[in-house]
Amino acid sequence: MSISYQKETGVFKLDTPNTSYILGIVDEEKFVGHIYYGRKLGNDDFRYLMRTGENPFVPSENGRDRNSFLDSFPMEYPGSGVGDYREGAIKVRTKQGHEGVLLLYKSHRIYPGKPELTGLPATWGTAAECDTLELILEDKVLGLEVTLVYTAFHQLDAITRSVKVKNAGKETIYLTKVMSAAFDMDNDREFEMLTMHGSWARERRLQRRTVGYGKQSCGSMRGESSHQEHPFLALLEKGANQKQGAVYGLNFVYSGNFLAQVEQSQFDSMRVMMGIHPENFCWELKMADTFQTPEVVMVYSNQGIGKMTRTYHDLYRNHLMRGEYKDKKRPILINNWEATYFDFNTEKLLDIAKEASKLGIEMLVMDDGWFGYRNDDNTSLGDWEVNESKIQGGLKHLVEEVNKMGLKFGIWFEPEMISPDSNLFREHPDWAIQMPNRTPSLARNQLVLDLSRPEIVNYIYEKVAKILRSANIEYVKWDMNRQLSDLGSFGLPAERQGELSHRYVLAVYEMQERLTKEFPHVLLENCSGGGARFDAGMLYYSPQIWCSDDTDAIERLSIQEGTSMIYPLSAIGAHVSDCPNHTVGRKTPFETRGYVALAGTFGYELDVTKIHQEDHDMIPTQVEMYHKYNDLVRAGDYYRIASYQENHEYDCYEVVAKDKSEVLITFIQVMGRANCHSRRIYLDGLDENQKYYIEGEDTVYLGSTLMYGGLQIENLWGDFRGKLIYLKAKVDKQAESDLKFFQS
Ligand code: DGJ
Repeated sequence: MSISYQKETGVFKLDTPNTSYILGIVDEEKFVGHIYYGRKLGNDDFRYLMRTGENPFVPSENGRDRNSFLDSFPMEYPGSGVGDYREGAIKVRTKQGHEGVLLLYKSHRIYPGKPELTGLPATWGTAAECDTLELILEDKVLGLEVTLVYTAFHQLDAITRSVKVKNAGKETIYLTKVMSAAFDMDNDREFEMLTMHGSWARERRLQRRTVGYGKQSCGSMRGESSHQEHPFLALLEKGANQKQGAVYGLNFVYSGNFLAQVEQSQFDSMRVMMGIHPENFCWELKMADTFQTPEVVMVYSNQGIGKMTRTYHDLYRNHLMRGEYKDKKRPILINNWEATYFDFNTEKLLDIAKEASKLGIEMLVMDDGWFGYRNDDNTSLGDWEVNESKIQGGLKHLVEEVNKMGLKFGIWFEPEMISPDSNLFREHPDWAIQMPNRTPSLARNQLVLDLSRPEIVNYIYEKVAKILRSANIEYVKWDMNRQLSDLGSFGLPAERQGELSHRYVLAVYEMQERLTKEFPHVLLENCSGGGARFDAGMLYYSPQIWCSDDTDAIERLSIQEGTSMIYPLSAIGAHVSDCPNHTVGRKTPFETRGYVALAGTFGYELDVTKIHQEDHDMIPTQVEMYHKYNDLVRAGDYYRIASYQENHEYDCYEVVAKDKSEVLITFIQVMGRANCHSRRIYLDGLDENQKYYIEGEDTVYLGSTLMYGGLQIENLWGDFRGKLIYLKAKVDKQAESDLKFFQS
C-alpha cells in the first residue's frame, strides 16, 4: 500500500516513487492539517510540522485565540467565514443566507485502485497501479459531508485529487465554491509561480513570477479552459530549471471555468488551490444530493521542470488517454481549411485528395462549410445537413471517391453552436444561451446552444451521428469557436441558473462519450478556435487536440513549448501550412515547417495542387520522416534543451526512447547569426555509457560526451533554418572501433 494511516498520531502518508504527501488530524475537534508535500520521507512522527505546539496552540488549549489558530493553521481543505481570513476552498450558502463552513475529520477509507468520477474525465488506474484515500470531513451545523479523494500512483510521482460534497442535512443548501484541491505550505524557498497565458493564435506562452503577499491567480470565466489562461500552475523553488530544483505542478482535468490560485499569508505560508471558478457558480443541493468536482493532477519533481513534464506525459499517455488511437500512429491528414476556407466543392476536394494520395498523405479532412448554406462564417451552425450544391453527388459519393484513391476521410463539426441565421434558430430561438429581455452578444456571428437541456443535447448528437452513420467517415474534428456569455437558460429554474456553465461542460463530455462509444474506430480531434480547449479533460475523449490556428513554424515553437510542458507530443495537432503564413505573414523554409510539425500529430493544411513545386516535392521525404520517427515521438521521453522564448535565437528539444536506444533532436535557428561559430548544445537523458551513431554522419560518440561535452551545431547562417538529428545506439564491435574519442 502506498497510503498509510498511523492511528496513534492521526497522520496519513501518501507515497509515490519519489514523493510523500502527508496530512494529519489534530486537536479534540479534529482539524485536518497539511503537513508536508515533497521529496519522499521515511516513516516518522511528523506532527510537529503543523506547529500546533506553538502559539496560539489548538483551540481546546486556547479557545480565547481561536481566530488566530484558524487564520494560521496549515489547513488541508479550508472552509470559510469562521475565522480563517485566507480564501477558503469551499463556500456554502444556507437558506437563511449564512455562509460559514468548518470542516472536521469524520472518517476515512483506504483501498487499492481508483474510483471513476461519474460524468467527468479523470485519470484511471487499476488496483495494482494505485491506491486511494477517501477522507470524509463534516460540518455538523450544516449537515455537510465533504469527501476528499486522493489517489497515489505506484510508478509515477503523481497524486490526483477530487472532492465529493453531500448535503447530509435536512435543508436545501447552495454550494457557491468548491475547489478540487487545496493545501497550505510555507514559502520558505522564494517560490515562483509558472503559468500559461495567451490569446487566439498565441496560446500557452509561459509566464514566471515571484510569489508575493496576497493572492495571485490565473483562471477562466469564459466557459472553456480558454486561449487566454491555462488550467495549470506550477510552483518552482527559486532557481529551478529544466534539470534542477523542486517543482510542484497542478493541472486541472476539466474544460470549463477554472481558478488556480496561490495566496501568501502574513506568516509566509502559501495557500494553493485549484478548481471550478466560483464566479457565476452556484449549485443547489437538496437533501441527500451530491456534487462531484473534477480532478486535479499534482506532480512533484525534485529534478526540475523536465522531470515534471515527463511524469505528466507518462501519466496522460497511460492513465488518461483512451481509445484505439491512443498509442497508434495517426494517419497523415490534409485539411482543406487554409487551402480553400469556405470556397470548395466536391471537385476541388477530389483534386486535393488525388494529388495528396500521390505524395503519401493518408487522409483528407473536409473542414468548415459543407452544411446548410454556409459559404462564410455568418450562417448555418446547427443545420447539420450536407449542402449538395457544394458537395455535388452527396457525402457518401465524396467519401467513396476519396477512399478509392486510398485515402481515409474526415469531417469537421461545431456541434455546440447555433447561427442566428439558421433553420434551427428560426425553429428554436430559445435554444441559445441567453437572458430574458437581453439580446445576447454575438461572437463570430454565432450563439452557443444551451446544452444544459437534454432535449437539445439529444437533438444535436443525433444530427452529428446521422452524418457519421451515412458514410465511411474515419475522423472527426470537433470545433468550438466562441466562448460563453449572457449566461441564462430557459430550461433551468431561477435557483439553478448558476449551474449552467458546469452543466454545459458535462453535456459536452456526455456527447463525446456517446460519440466515442458509438464510433470507436473514428479518430476524434478536439479543437476550439485553435487551441482554446487544449486541456486534460478533452484528452480523455480525443487522443489529439488542435494546438493553435497559428500554423507558422516559428510561432508554433513557443506554442508547442508551453503545450508540451504538460501534454504528450502525440496529442499535439500540428500541420505544415503554406507561406507567407496566413496568420503572421512570415516565410519559413518548408523543411523547417516539417520539422516543427513532426513534434506533434503531423499533417498538412495547404492546397497541395497549388504550392511551390519545390515544397510539393519535399512532401514524400517529410512523409517518410514521419513514418520513421513517429513511434519515437509518440512514446519517448521529452527533453527541452533550449527555449527560443528565453534566448530569442534558437530552439532545441529532444525525444529519447524509453530504452535510450534512439534520440531525435530538433534544432531551429530562429535568428540567423552573422559571422558565426558553431553552437554547442548539451543533450540530455542519454545513456552515459552507450555509443550513439549520428545518422548521416560517419561518427559515433558516447552518451556522456554528447551530454556533458555537447554536440556542435554548425552553419547558423539564415533565419528559420532547422536541423533534425537522429542518434541510434549501437552495441557492436564496429561501434567500438568507430568511436572517435574512446576513453579506456
Ligand atoms: C477554427 C479552427 O481552429 C480552424 O482550424 C478551422 O476549423 C475553423 N475554426 C473553421 O471555422
